[in-house]
This record gives sequence, C-alpha cells and structure tokens, in this order.
Amino acid sequence: MAKRVVSVVSGKGGVGKSTIAVNLAVTLAKSGESTLLIDADIYNPCVFFHLGLPPQSAGLQELLNGEANLEEELIIHPQSGLRCISSSMQSYEEVKVERLGKLLDKLDYEYVFIDCPPGFSSLIENAVHHSTDVFVVMTPDMPSSTAALKLVSFIKARRKKESREAPHFSFFLNRVAGAPYEVHPREIETIFKTSLSAVIPEDGCVPKSISAKVPVVFMSPGCSFSKSIKRVAASMGGMRIPLVGKREGPATSTEETKGVGILEKIRCLLLRIIGR
Ligand SMILES: Nc1ncnc2c1ncn2[C@@H]1O[C@H](COP(=O)(O)OP(=O)(O)O)[C@@H](O)[C@H]1O
Ligand SMILES: [Mg+2]
Repeated sequence: MAKRVVSVVSGKGGVGKSTIAVNLAVTLAKSGESTLLIDADIYNPCVFFHLGLPPQSAGLQELLNGEANLEEELIIHPQSGLRCISSSMQSYEEVKVERLGKLLDKLDYEYVFIDCPPGFSSLIENAVHHSTDVFVVMTPDMPSSTAALKLVSFIKARRKKESREAPHFSFFLNRVAGAPYEVHPREIETIFKTSLSAVIPEDGCVPKSISAKVPVVFMSPGCSFSKSIKRVAASMGGMRIPLVGKREGPATSTEETKGVGILEKIRCLLLRIIGR
C-alpha cells in the first residue's frame, strides 16, 4: 500500500483537477519521490495529453475488470520518472470499481494520485474510501464552490457511518484572476470552515503547456501556476522550499458578506438534506 493516496475530486468538471494532479505528480516524481498517477476519469481520460504520452488502448478499466495486469499497464513519463496508469478512450463499459482497493493495496509508492471524474459516483466513493487525502478543487464561482460543498458534505456524511478513519481534506481554489465578481478565497474558507491549501492563479501557461504536451512545471517553471504547485508539493513533504502562499487582493466587505450569506444558506440546506 502506498504511503499517501490522494484522490483529486471536484463537484463540477473543468476546474483543473487533471492539470493540478499531473503537475503535482511530476513535481514529486522529479524530486525523487516514487510517484504514481492514476487517470481515473475512465470515460474521458486526459492525463496522457498533459504528459505527451501515447493514448492507451487499455488501462484502469481493464485492470479493475481483471483483463490486464499491472506491469503491462504501467507507463513511465521519461522526463520525470512518474509512473502512470491511464484509461482507455475506447469504451463506456461498466467497471468493477469495488476492486480499486485491492489494486491500491498492491502499489508500493510514496505517493499515488487518483485523478477522479467530477461529481459523486461509486468510483469516487471507492477512491476516497482508500485514500489518506482528498484534494478538493474548485474555481472562484458559485456553481463550482457550491458543487464542491455538496460533494464534501455528502462524502463526510457517508464516511461518518463507516468505522474507517476519515481522509484528510484539502481545498484548492484554482483559476483565480482577482476579478471583482469572483467568489473571494475568504468566503470559501468561511464556508468550508478551513484554510485553503492553495489559491492558484489563472495562468496562460496552462493551456500552452497542454497544447505542447509538456507539464507546466517543466515548460514554464517560473510561472505563477508552477510556483503554486511547487509550494503544494513542498507542503506534502516532497520538496524543501518555503510554504508561504500568495493571496489575491481582498474583495470589498459587502461583496464578501453577500457571498458568505448565500453559501451559508446552501450549507444549512445541505446539512438538512443529508440529515445532520
Ligand atoms: N490555473 C489555470 N489557469 C489557466 N487555465 C487553467 C488553469 N487550470 C486549468 N486550466 C484549464 O482548464 C481546463 C480544464 O482543466 P482540467 O485540468 O482538465 O479540469 P478537470 O480535470 O477538473 O476537468 C484546461 O483546458 C486547462 O487548460
Ligand atoms: Mg480531469
């Protein structure tokens, strides 16, 4: 079993899970930590685009369905030494997600990242169940933060019924441009009742790197996105660089209060729905 298994999740899609998972994983791998990245977005895998690896005709689905073995499906990213399990682009077939725990038990890495599909499903439930950490990614808008809040409330409520120790949740606010209409980081911290682990800026280096099929941290190591990722990797114990994160400027107090008010109402509603 890996020392640290990190599920990267979100309420809504397109918030930057895969980008963050890929860049964290290659940063840790390059710094000498044995690291594996699982592309668990089984019907829409994309990790191979970010890493410049060839698309796979088999992957996680076949491993879970017992149609392939681990050695065959492990791909190595030559630039970083990251190990990767991709998913096949070819099917929408049912997957035996309940076998994910058994697969993870076989893995002996310092870090395993599971890049999950958005929202909640039995795949997410299994991934989270076997994780030490859950990284929740959202963007600074109401649909994304509300969906993240719903997902986290739901996962926590399900976990309460189990005897297993709950994973550690960390929250990432991505694509922050500092525009006045954005939900402010402090509003997110108030509603989730915890500090954000990273406020990651909107950065043009990200789409450029995806187009070039080279992870951002390698293509543009000095850009603001890469700096944020390196700080997170350092905080995970993988790299020895200072942890202090840069925050965007404050929103006006009325904007913040209004945002927190709406989110607080949603939080209360969610608590009622899940019966707490
Ligand atoms: N910090 C960022 N700055 C600019 N673009 C970003 C940033 N993070 C992600 N993106 C863009 O957002 C899109 C969705 O990201 P992705 O990682 O695929 O999201 P998810 O895995 O949550 O669906 C990608 O096209 C990527 O280029
Ligand atoms: Mg993704």
